[in-house]
Amino acid sequence: MRSGSLVGSLRPVAQHGQIFLVPCLGQPGAPFAFVAFGSLEECHPLPFGGQRLGQRGEWSCVFHRLVFLAGDPGNRIVPAVRLGETEVRSARPVAFRTAMSVTILVGGQWGDEGKGKVIDLLADKVHMVVRSQGGNNAGHTVVAQGKEHRFHLIPSGILNPDTVCVIGHGVVVDPNAFLQELDRHQAEGIDTRNLVLSERAHMVMPYHPVLDKLGEEMRGDDRLGTTWRGIGPAYEDKVRRIGFRIGDLQKPAFLEKKLRFVLRLKNETLTRLYGADPFDEHAILDEYLGYAERMDPYIRDIYPIIQDALQNGRRILLEGAQGVMLDLDLGTYPYVTSSSPTAGGACTGSGIPPSRVTKTVGVFEAYTTRVGYGPFPTELTDALGDSIREIGSEYGTTTGRPRRVGWFDAAVARYAVATNGIDSIALTKVDVLDSLDTIKICTDYVSKGEAWDHPMANISHLKHTDAVYEEVPGWKTATRSCRSYEELPDACRAYVARIGELCGAAVDMVSVGPDREHTLVRRLPL
Ligand code: GDP
Ligand code: IMO
Ligand code: MG
Repeated sequence: MRSGSLVGSLRPVAQHGQIFLVPCLGQPGAPFAFVAFGSLEECHPLPFGGQRLGQRGEWSCVFHRLVFLAGDPGNRIVPAVRLGETEVRSARPVAFRTAMSVTILVGGQWGDEGKGKVIDLLADKVHMVVRSQGGNNAGHTVVAQGKEHRFHLIPSGILNPDTVCVIGHGVVVDPNAFLQELDRHQAEGIDTRNLVLSERAHMVMPYHPVLDKLGEEMRGDDRLGTTWRGIGPAYEDKVRRIGFRIGDLQKPAFLEKKLRFVLRLKNETLTRLYGADPFDEHAILDEYLGYAERMDPYIRDIYPIIQDALQNGRRILLEGAQGVMLDLDLGTYPYVTSSSPTAGGACTGSGIPPSRVTKTVGVFEAYTTRVGYGPFPTELTDALGDSIREIGSEYGTTTGRPRRVGWFDAAVARYAVATNGIDSIALTKVDVLDSLDTIKICTDYVSKGEAWDHPMANISHLKHTDAVYEEVPGWKTATRSCRSYEELPDACRAYVARIGELCGAAVDMVSVGPDREHTLVRRLPL
C-alpha cells in the first residue's frame, strides 16, 4: 500500500446534509481528523493532521476514507478525513448517507439569553428547526445584516428560506398573534412557505389573556409578573382537557359544540369570581373560523414530517423558548412559566425521542437577567445594575419591561448543564461587560451558614441566600470588532474559560454583539 492523497475542490460533489464516502484501501481503525474549509470561524480543530490549503475548499491529506459530516449550499463543508496508509481506488462517491443530528438548544438562565440569535446562526446548517414549547410570551430578536427581526411564535430559523420551520405540538398558539407575526415577516420579504404548524398545538383563546391579567391582579403583591399573553391559562386548560387544538379550526361543528361547554365554565369564572364581562360564543366562533382559512395552508400533522426527517438522517434543531430557571418543575416555582423549557420538554413538545438527541446547547448570557418577579440571588439593584441594563439594552422584546440584571450565576448554570445534559455552551453579550474594571462570578451560595452548589427548591430560602463570589479582572477593551475567539483580550478569554470550567461544559460559541457576524464560533455544536 502506498499513501494516497487528493487535492481538489469537494464543493461540486458535497450535498446539503449528506455524508459522502470515497472508498479506498487503508488501515482500518486509523484516527479521524476533522478538516473544515469555508468560513474560518467554523473550522473544526485538526487534532490528528490534515491540511487546510485555502479558503475555497482545496485540501490535501493522506486519507483512508472521506466522510462529509456536513455540507450546505454555501461553501461551509466539513469533511472528516481518516488518516493512514491508503490508496485511492476512486474519487467518485459510491454512497450517500446523511449526517443526522438532533440538537436541542435551551436557554440556561431566566430567558432572553440570545437564543434567537444562535438559532438564526445555526439554521442554515440544518434541515429543520422545531419550536417545542411556550407561546408568544417569548420574544427572540435576531439582527441579520444590520436589520432587526423579532420572533414570538415563528421559529427564528425562518430567516433561512431552505429550512423547514415547525411549530410543534408543545407550543400554545394565539392565532391572532400568529397571523400578525406572519404578516409582519411577509411584509419584510421573509419567505414563510416552509412554515408548518402542528394540528396538535393548543390555542390561546380570547379569554386566556383576560384571565391571565385578572389572575395576576387578584394575587396582588404575590403576582408573578407574567407577560399577560394568556400562556398560563392556555396550558391550564390543556392539562384540564378543555383546551382547543389548532386542528379544531378545521372542524367547525366540533369547535362550536365544545366552545358552548367550555365557555360556560369560563364565563362563570369571569363574571362570578372576577366580576368581569362574559365572552360571546358566536363572536369567538366568527373570529376563530375567520383565522382558520388563513392558517389552513400551514396546519399539518407533524408526526410524519418529523419521522421522515429522522429516518432520512436530517439535521434537526430544536428551538427553546424561555429558560431552565423558568421551567415549571426545575425553575423557581411559582415564579416560572407554564411549560417545560428544558431538553426533556423539547422532546415531548416535538415528538422527537430522547434517544435521537445528539447534542444539547445551552445559551447563557455573560451575566444574568430576569423579567418579572421571583428570586434572583446575584441581582444588582444598584447603579452598576442600571448601567449594565443600559449598555445591554435590557428591555423585554415582548413587553418592553426593564430586565433585572445581575452577575453570572454559575450555581444556576451548573444546574442547567446537569439537568439538561448541556454539552456545548453559547455565551452571549460578552461585549456588555467590556468597560468593567472587575467582574464577579457567583460560584456557590451560602444559606444560614450552609453551603449550596445549586439553587434550592424552597424559594423563600433561595430568596434569602447569599451568593459566594469570586472576582476576576475586566478586559477594558471593546470586543465588538473581534472576529475570532483568539482575537479576544486575554482577560476576556480567561473569563470565558472560567465560566466553562465552573459549568462543566465547553464554551463553543462566544457572542460579542447582536449581529450574526458578532458570533465567534470555536466549534459548531451540531
Ligand atoms: P432570546 O429570547 O433568548 O432569543 O433573547 P432576546 O432576543 O429576547 O434578548 C437578547 C437581546 O440581546 C436581543 O436584543 C439581542 O439582539 C441581543 N443580543 C444577543 N446577543 C448579543 C451580544 O452578544 N451582545 C449584545 N450586546 N447584544 C446581544
Ligand atoms: P424568551 O423566549 C424572559 C417570564 C415572565 C414571567 C414568567 C411567567 O424570550 O426567553 P408567562 O407569561 O410565561 O406566564 O410569565 O416568565 N417569561 C420570560 N422571561 N424571556 C421569556 O421568553 C419569557 N417568557 C416568559 O416575564 O416572569
Ligand atoms: Mg426573549
